[in-house]
Amino acid sequence: MNGCYYITTPIYYVNGAPHIGHAYTSIAADVMARWKRLDGFDVFFLTGTDEHGQKVEKAAAEAGMDPQAFTDKVSADFRDMAVKMGVSFDDYIRTTEDRHKVSCAELWQRIDASGNIYLGHYEGWYAVRDEAFYDEDELTTRPDGSKAAPSGAPVEWVREPSYFFRLSAWQDTLLKLYEDDPDFILPAGRRNEVLSFVRGGLRDLSISRTSFRWGIPVPGAPDHVMYVWLDALNNYVTACGFPDETASRWRYWPADAHFVGKDILRFHAVYWPAFLMAAGLPVPRRISSHGWWTVEGEKMSKSLGNVIEPRQLVATYGLDQVRYFLLREKPFGGDGTMSHQALVTRINVELANDLGNLAQRSLSLIARNCDGRLPGRGPVSDADADLTRMAEALPGALRERLARQVFHEALEDVWKVVRAANAYIDHQAPWALRRTDPVRMAAVLRVLADVLRVIATVLQPFMPESMGRMLDQLGVANNARQLADLAAPLADGSVLPAPQGVFPRYVEPAA
Ligand code: MSP
Repeated sequence: MNGCYYITTPIYYVNGAPHIGHAYTSIAADVMARWKRLDGFDVFFLTGTDEHGQKVEKAAAEAGMDPQAFTDKVSADFRDMAVKMGVSFDDYIRTTEDRHKVSCAELWQRIDASGNIYLGHYEGWYAVRDEAFYDEDELTTRPDGSKAAPSGAPVEWVREPSYFFRLSAWQDTLLKLYEDDPDFILPAGRRNEVLSFVRGGLRDLSISRTSFRWGIPVPGAPDHVMYVWLDALNNYVTACGFPDETASRWRYWPADAHFVGKDILRFHAVYWPAFLMAAGLPVPRRISSHGWWTVEGEKMSKSLGNVIEPRQLVATYGLDQVRYFLLREKPFGGDGTMSHQALVTRINVELANDLGNLAQRSLSLIARNCDGRLPGRGPVSDADADLTRMAEALPGALRERLARQVFHEALEDVWKVVRAANAYIDHQAPWALRRTDPVRMAAVLRVLADVLRVIATVLQPFMPESMGRMLDQLGVANNARQLADLAAPLADGSVLPAPQGVFPRYVEPAA
């Protein structure tokens, strides 16, 4: 074992149905979790749902349901979505669970005991949709004269007794945290935004509400419920057994990576470490923030009717195809647009043609010309050595790429090898060697099988099902599919199953 690795997705608000934005964060985190497992780490991968607060309370009321029954239903739907997206979570946390209530009460008490909480009065703007407080100067005025949050969410004026967290006292400590580890927040552009926000001065944060009930009560002050972000962020330690620091899961804390959208970076990179430091707990190692998806260039919205349901997308294009597209099409940290045309091109060119045909051509030549048995290695030509070297460099290259969450570059590294292997097979023309030089033909096919094995092994985290099938066809045992297993060559002469296409082309349905 290579040590522990703890990765999280945000926990999703259960005010509505899951959409592709939620699926994206979860799939990206899943790729990372699967990659670390492949690399021999003891991984803990957490996802779940954020079920308290005014926004969820309102959605339950609109649905005419009791909030608990409502959150049970929507949370189950998010869980189903995660399973259908191949998200290999180890735990699914819900903030309405008892373990979480206990954990939040304890976190509150520790922060309080350190002198970081005081009772006051909040008066200012609040956006229920963002569950966030805003200063006057952050707001914009809409054409109808009403005010809106920077996200576009409507805001309302709130005046109520509230407990405050002394966030202002943590400014220097936070700045030191960002400076000591320049990779604490990725990507760099977003880190700079957080730096300037914190340098601009921090105000104390309202951390309790008295105007509604759907939340975790503040210890010793039952009129107050905790601010939903304090409650929500704390899920990451609850799942590790907090406050029981002898729990076996506690070995995973601090988290290695919190994956979050750019819209919720501030909560994770500023408030969360400050809460933890005030409670005397270690802070996470990395907050990795990603950009947003639009659909055919437009913002996704219910009113435009262009919200993409991830399970439907998968029904149309295939799960591994969607996973591949999401990580290939745009840099993790940047924004991107999802379009039918771009999906079809990636599926047909990169998956079906480049990789699918390479495997199909190589494996069917082995089936036909080598009796369906894996040929032994032959004398090595320069071309063989060049291609093999490129493939063997992949695990190391991807390890570096994924350590910085540049998934699209990792996939480009793999496709360089796929393209080189296609050029190799065209140039070596093993089909023509069958009569002229069968020994050389066998050697070429073995090089291709070895290269495909590396490619399929490193791509498993991205496309678990299809790469599993490709490894089956290469005769790689189920328990020998980790990166470390690549050191042992495949057995010469092993019988391979009949080759079958892994990536069908996408064909437009008849109109
Ligand atoms: N409940 C909070 C998170 C609490 S974590 C302690 C929350 N939930 S959310 O359901 O609104 O959003 C969860 C994630 O979905 C965020 O990371 C957000 O960036 C992501 N996305 C929502 N729409 C998106 C796109 N259109 N594109 C990509 N991701 C987007 O925030």
